Amino acid sequence: MGKDHHQPYSFAKKLLPWTLYTILPIAIFRLYFYPLQLPQSATDQLPLNTPIILTSFSSSSPPPFSSSLSQEEERADETPCDYTNGNWVHDKMGPLYNGTTCGTIKEGQNCITHGRPDFDYLYWRWQPKECKLPRFDPNIFLELLSNKHLAFVGDSMARNQLESLLCILSTVSTPNLVYRNGEDNKFRKWNFASHNVNISVYWSPFLVNGIEKSNSLNYNKLYLDRIDEKWGADLEHMDMLVLSVGHWFLHPAVYFEGDSVLGCHYCPELNHTEIGFYGVLRKALKTTLKTILERRGSSNNNLDVFVTTFSPAHFEGEWDKAGACPKIKPYKEGEKVLEGMDAEMRNLEVEEVDLAKENAKQLKRLRLEALDVSKLSLMRPDGHPGPYMLPNPFANGIKERVQNDCVHWCLPGPVDTWNQILLQIIKRWEGQSWRGE
Ligand SMILES: *[C@@H]1O[C@H](CO)[C@@H](O)[C@H](O)[C@H]1NC(C)=O
Ligand SMILES: *[C@@H]1O[C@H](CO)[C@@H](O)[C@H](O)[C@H]1NC(C)=O
Ligand SMILES: *[C@@H]1O[C@H](CO)[C@@H](O)[C@H](O)[C@H]1NC(C)=O
Repeated sequence: MGKDHHQPYSFAKKLLPWTLYTILPIAIFRLYFYPLQLPQSATDQLPLNTPIILTSFSSSSPPPFSSSLSQEEERADETPCDYTNGNWVHDKMGPLYNGTTCGTIKEGQNCITHGRPDFDYLYWRWQPKECKLPRFDPNIFLELLSNKHLAFVGDSMARNQLESLLCILSTVSTPNLVYRNGEDNKFRKWNFASHNVNISVYWSPFLVNGIEKSNSLNYNKLYLDRIDEKWGADLEHMDMLVLSVGHWFLHPAVYFEGDSVLGCHYCPELNHTEIGFYGVLRKALKTTLKTILERRGSSNNNLDVFVTTFSPAHFEGEWDKAGACPKIKPYKEGEKVLEGMDAEMRNLEVEEVDLAKENAKQLKRLRLEALDVSKLSLMRPDGHPGPYMLPNPFANGIKERVQNDCVHWCLPGPVDTWNQILLQIIKRWEGQSWRGE
């Protein structure tokens, strides 16, 4: 309060709650629920002078994709590097995999095959201040995960991260899809026979028990005192767990705890108290981490738990206009700070992981860490599919209305860096012996 000399930030802060409760949830909402319903009538007669993001191509032709590894591997047992603090530097080495040949990228995030014309966004490397983040070595990852089961649990961000990892690993070993279930393949499991590694994904956008909005229910129902057993029932068969939620908490919802209604979010037609979603996400994480500790704390098998922090969206204007996330370069250092909702979501996730870490201290076989990607992702407004969530959106000229995805990330893209950091933490842990052993 009272710090109005910092004009841009205080303005953003004032604007944010409003944006948050209106435009952003609706934009994201439509993206999740009506991904392919843009009227086709808008396709044909369109003004050719509509401002659009096709203007800037990378001037230098991209060098061939290379898989050569960095020689500057950080020693696994060194003091942990703060990966959150750094900046994006141009890197001619390019992506870790070829997005057009990796078979497991959800179409809407396969920007190259969907005709995204600029390639510069593929040539950036995250450079932490304190250390060098080595290029991902898929062989090391598979070796460390040998005979283990890694599960990604959460919303479409969990899937985005899973698909990045599968593509990276596929460059050295072929995954076999061994399980598939649910609408839109929401539950899947792959086996890498070379190292007997299982990697799975579980759709659970709240982590706790919930009923998703549908045609007959126009809000989500969340039961904050119990985890979603769609993944919880398999917990005992997991060795590593990556949890990733956030965006679904912005949607209209009614919250329950036990038999009583706790309140709701964005539900003007119901007679419940509006309680927002921050405290609710916190409760959901608390319940989740507490249950994991209870069920696995006394197990004879190790469990590593990561919570991927909130991934910022980059809508700059109207969600259905061509330039909804038009940037084609990362932000420079200091150009953008983590604030408002992005910061609140990230902070409460990190706090809940820290609390759970404290509670896990006396447990021998359970390790937790926040995979803190919010800041580095915030700096990548250029990494989203935007209009290329749909194939060749401008094939018939420039449309007035076009659906945009400024929430998920193109693959290859910034999410690959999340997995690079994940591997570094696993390597560091591997260099330490288990507590008490
Ligand atoms: C990716 O693979 C496709 C199909 O094999 C190939 O045409 C393309 O040149 C590859 N791209 C890169 C950058 O290697
Ligand atoms: C991998 O999944 C298969 C099929 O569900 C299962 O039979 C096998 O035990 C799993 N292996 C590991 C290491 O989790
Ligand atoms: C809403 O709740 C208030 C307080 O409990 C009650 O007085 C009122 O009748 C309720 N209104 C409706 C429409 O249920």
